[in-house]
Amino acid sequence: MGTVPQVAWLIAAVCFILSLGGLSRHESARRGNFLGIVGMMLAIGAAFWQATESELLGGLSQNGLFVLVGALVAGGIVGGFLAVRVAMTGMPQLVAILHSFVGLAAVLVGFSVFLHGHGSSDGTHGVQLIHDIEIFLGVFIGGLTFTGSVVAWGKLDGKINSRPLLIPGRHAINVGMLLVCLLLGVWFLQPTGFASELAALLIMLLISFVFGAHLVMAIGGADMPVVVSMLNSYSGWAAAATGFMLSNDLLIITGALVGSSGAILSYIMCHAMNRSFLSVILGGFGTGATAAVAGVERGELVHTATTADEVAEALKNAKEVVVVPGYGMAVAQAQHPIREITELLQANGTRTRFAIHPVAGRLPGHMNVLLAEARLPYDLVLEMEEINEDFPDTDVVLVVGANDIVNPGALDDPASPIYGMPVLEAWKAKEVVVFKRSMGSGYSGVDNPLFYNENTDMLFGDAKKSSDEILQALRR
Ligand code: TAP
Repeated sequence: MGTVPQVAWLIAAVCFILSLGGLSRHESARRGNFLGIVGMMLAIGAAFWQATESELLGGLSQNGLFVLVGALVAGGIVGGFLAVRVAMTGMPQLVAILHSFVGLAAVLVGFSVFLHGHGSSDGTHGVQLIHDIEIFLGVFIGGLTFTGSVVAWGKLDGKINSRPLLIPGRHAINVGMLLVCLLLGVWFLQPTGFASELAALLIMLLISFVFGAHLVMAIGGADMPVVVSMLNSYSGWAAAATGFMLSNDLLIITGALVGSSGAILSYIMCHAMNRSFLSVILGGFGTGATAAVAGVERGELVHTATTADEVAEALKNAKEVVVVPGYGMAVAQAQHPIREITELLQANGTRTRFAIHPVAGRLPGHMNVLLAEARLPYDLVLEMEEINEDFPDTDVVLVVGANDIVNPGALDDPASPIYGMPVLEAWKAKEVVVFKRSMGSGYSGVDNPLFYNENTDMLFGDAKKSSDEILQALRR
């Protein structure tokens, strides 16, 4: 292989590493994104360059060029179209379906390498064995990432019920599928001939498809954040396996980066939700039954509704205000009027800050992105552990389209499916105003006792409309 693609891939790998570093902080996120784009352009350019030398494409034959340019243009158009159209609230689904493409690519590359390389053993037995293991593992991880991600996409998009599917004996079924795959792997690695090895690979692929789908079907709505980052990690390992199959250093480095950062993110999110990683991936959390019981028990409780004028009045008299944004703020696109309210309050001498729960919204960092988009100063945005103890000294908390992340049941109701998850303790403030459209539950389907507290008022309606009305009342 020529040195130009090698050097380009090395520089691209450095760009990706610096990009990840940049994305870890608001202030440097733009630079991080830019470096990622540069790295990806270098990678694509190097792939073209390599194709000109590739035997597979017969040098740069007309056909080869046609396939490459065709793939690039088609991919670019579909990607561009999706990126322009997707709403922030649809990002998790988009990310999930993109993971499925990585899984599918690993499967296709695995089969292509197997079919192309079969019988052309040009290395020692040891080298061939390692190569075959790479193919088998790549297809296995790719297969389960593909169907797991498609199911995750379906659940996040509301096309598949987000309740966990709990088949009796599901753990035994999973272990059984893994064992059969292991046996198929041993079969595949024996020199039993093309047809027999292809059969082993195909049967394992089918099992990995079922395995991936079953694994994610068993996970309940409340654990979906961890599933998304876990599939992110799987897709990274699938890409790394593809890199090994193609002897492509950039894919190995990038795959390892994505795989390990996804694993670290999964760990951080499990920690934030006080869940063990194993219990999440083995599933069965957040069943609808418990949620329904909780709802009935609270049926007799009453809530109080308020108006935008009353909220504006309370804000005018407040010295300390905390805004808790949630998924509903993203749906309503209320971040801009909320920023304007913040500016008015600051000008009035009211300290106004934002409290961000690690799983607020539908994607890690969802709220941070929305607030950055509304040009809210970063120093007003605090993480849960930085602000939780300030709630007792807060005059007014505005809960804007958030629900699960301010549910006190997570701390004091062992029957609640989200019991044990750390939450923003908004109820400790003097007054809490909840912006939402109904008394309906949040993502995990659990009723929220906060809504019935004496110091809580419900401001019903679309969060943007309510925020606009408060803004007008404050300006009067
Ligand atoms: P949720 O608990 O889902 O609550 C959002 C609330 O927003 C709903 O109760 C809804 O009530 C309200 N809402 C929706 N549209 C609205 C609008 N236009 N105007 C006003 N309110 C609106 O959100 P959260 O508190 O942000 O918690 C996040 C949840 O999502 C957690 O359960 C978390 O585990 C899960 N999740 C998170 C992620 C990540 S990584 N962040 C990924 C997947 C799932 P109404 O319908 O009554 O208006």
